[in-house]
Amino acid sequence: MDVNTAADYAFARDGGAAARRHALLAEAYDPVTLDRLAETGVGSGWQCLEVGAGAGTVSVWLAERVAPSGEVLATDVRRPVLPRMPGLRGQVHDAVTDPLPEAAFDLVVARLVLRHLPQRAQVLDGLVRALKPGGWLQIDEFDTSYEPPLLVDDAADRRVFESFLAAKDIAMRARGVDPSFGRHAAGAMRDAGLVEVDPRPRVQLRHPGSADLALLAENVTDMRDSLREAGMSEHELDRVRDLFAAPGFRACSSLLYSVHGRKAAR
Ligand SMILES: C[S@@+](CC[C@H](N)C(=O)[O-])C[C@H]1O[C@@H](n2cnc3c(N)ncnc32)[C@H](O)[C@@H]1O
Repeated sequence: MDVNTAADYAFARDGGAAARRHALLAEAYDPVTLDRLAETGVGSGWQCLEVGAGAGTVSVWLAERVAPSGEVLATDVRRPVLPRMPGLRGQVHDAVTDPLPEAAFDLVVARLVLRHLPQRAQVLDGLVRALKPGGWLQIDEFDTSYEPPLLVDDAADRRVFESFLAAKDIAMRARGVDPSFGRHAAGAMRDAGLVEVDPRPRVQLRHPGSADLALLAENVTDMRDSLREAGMSEHELDRVRDLFAAPGFRACSSLLYSVHGRKAAR
């Protein structure tokens, strides 16, 4: 696989499934992402870019702060579905193949996008070039190598959950995803020339009813074929779904690293 373009993406491109996944991502992770964005001081007049905007909730939050003198450009390989509001513009844009304007943005944000792109180093260089001197880059990325089960009814259920995590990792990697990119994001941003690089790890509790566990359940559906190829049986996948609905189930989420870096002021 050379490029992860609109035609090639780890998750199902079914519109309904994508919309559900993006809504769950927003519910689970906007509190982290928006708190960190607020730390940059983003406000009136800023020019912002969100790459791979998904549901667009992050871009909407930014537009409410920068409009009317500033603007947020929300891009994605799929046409972003955005509300009509001042200071918000959507654009179909492939982060791998399409150029970005240089030195144009005070703030660039990309959450859970670079992990999907085998060319992430090249894409990161483009995001850095798109920053104005002194501008902020925020990269939020998972490291899914740490998602331990905490409360599971019996040893067989624990084993099937651990098999699911292992199969998910194999299936993701087979599609060019780096599931642990989060742990490398800060180093990659420093290597791309950013200064004041500041990584913050966050975890959550997965329990029935939590958005983060609902996301994992969506993975079981979305990635069913590739999870089967990675060694899970239909029976085991059904058992994982049942496990996620068991009232006593508790697990730790993956780590989400929210990383800031700045382009040196001239
Ligand atoms: C896991 S979703 C994250 C969405 C959103 N950033 C969030 O965190 O809620 C990954 C997003 O990246 C987009 N994407 C995948 N490949 C892309 C590419 N080559 N260029 C731009 N966006 C891409 C997908 O369409 C999807 O919206």
